[in-house]
Amino acid sequence: MTYLLALDQGTSSSRSIVFDRQGAIVSLAQRELPQIYPQPGWVEHDPMEIWRGQLATAQEALAKAGIGAKDVAALGITNQRETAVVWHRKTGQPIHHAIVWQDRRGEPLCAQLREQGHAPLIQSRTGLLIDSYFSGTKIRWLLDNVPGARQQAERGELAFGTIDSWLLWQLTGGALHATDVSNASRTMLFDVHGNEWDQELLQLLQVPASMMPKVLPSSAGYGRTVETLLGAPVRIGGVAGDQQSALFGQACFREGMAKNTYGTGCFLLMHTGGRFQQSANGLLTTSAAQTSQQPQYAMEGSVFVGGAVVQWLRDGLKAIESSAQVQALAESVPDAGGVMLVPAFTGLGAPYWKPDARGTITGLTRGSTVAHIARAALESIAYQSAALLQAMSRDATAAGSAPVAELRVDGGACVNNLLMQFQADLLGIPVVRPAITETTALGAAYLAGLSGGVFAGPQELEKLWKAERRFTPTLSRDRAGELMQRWEHAVRQATLA
Ligand code: G3P
Repeated sequence: MTYLLALDQGTSSSRSIVFDRQGAIVSLAQRELPQIYPQPGWVEHDPMEIWRGQLATAQEALAKAGIGAKDVAALGITNQRETAVVWHRKTGQPIHHAIVWQDRRGEPLCAQLREQGHAPLIQSRTGLLIDSYFSGTKIRWLLDNVPGARQQAERGELAFGTIDSWLLWQLTGGALHATDVSNASRTMLFDVHGNEWDQELLQLLQVPASMMPKVLPSSAGYGRTVETLLGAPVRIGGVAGDQQSALFGQACFREGMAKNTYGTGCFLLMHTGGRFQQSANGLLTTSAAQTSQQPQYAMEGSVFVGGAVVQWLRDGLKAIESSAQVQALAESVPDAGGVMLVPAFTGLGAPYWKPDARGTITGLTRGSTVAHIARAALESIAYQSAALLQAMSRDATAAGSAPVAELRVDGGACVNNLLMQFQADLLGIPVVRPAITETTALGAAYLAGLSGGVFAGPQELEKLWKAERRFTPTLSRDRAGELMQRWEHAVRQATLA
């Protein structure tokens, strides 16, 4: 038997999954990752804890599968993106905790960059909007604030990496300092056209080029793991940021194919093939996972509060005791009874970009109950995702390309049938849930397997992708349009609040 091992290092946990050659899950191991909040708006992780936890899950997954490292044809890495680690090349010791993607400490520098008029340059080179979400201003903060860091960096003693690079460095015993194009494209320092670090942007952010990892395609030879870690050396054959990895795991390889991951937040990505399209509707352009030097792109939009709204129903509103109860409560009423809930708890992301928006409930009557609010909360996940897809369609139409024909879904909340049906109703296109919803890890396993010759090519992977259930729209387009208008009205209220 041929096995593939995927390491999936996420924001809240580290996971490892062993897949067989058909993409079926053989074993899974998971460890929670402690979050560090030094002050409001700041989020950090301990890089050593990330490494130790990740390694432990890899060892446990192999043990659970009853296989050894020798049985693993290739290992793939997928990871929380943008999170920045800087470490000493000589000792491998991080100079500071990792600064997590959610961390906002780079905002003053971002404001300055915007004021100085750098937005068009940054968007045209990197596809990104200026935001502290991306790694660039996090690296700059580390260099400016960790004593001695800038001098050490200028002497070439420090290395920067997103979490994939950090894991690669550890797995190869410091032999490889590398990343892949999809992770590099989230730094705000990467020229996604030439697939290389952008010297002008490095200078603008005062980041020495010597700190940057070598950039490889997502499916490529990334060296071998040190023998002692897993019992035998394993070939590392694939690396991709988690959302691009999920797009790959969903077999969305061609222009117009899209996926939405329903996690704590939602990440909607649409492949645009070899076409770099700058959004006029508040979306990001990003490098998709690449199997060669040939650039591949996707448009991306993210919803900050997706499945997290169900946690709020449980912990904040105390409407349910466990998240699993939400579907039953929401289904106890035929609809939301005119109630709209905009979960702008931390502002609104794409396509609105309203950091000051706050959570809002509209349309309450004497007849409204907690069930209507639960239903509205669940529906808000679909409304926000629909607004993203509409923005993508506007960009696609402007570029003369076909709109998205179906939406592939994954992530924890995609098991909720009510939500998936409502999503299809709003979008007017089928929503398709695959048989294997662990698509993030699967994407990394596929990328590793492709470079290792386990699979002949993407066509073979397309055949492995199987739908478990298809949700087809049942609502009239007029009614869906009315609902979207009411949603946009509620969003306006949320931004006035
Ligand atoms: O861009 C952030 C994203 O990659 C984080 O994903 O699943 O770790 O929350 P996740």
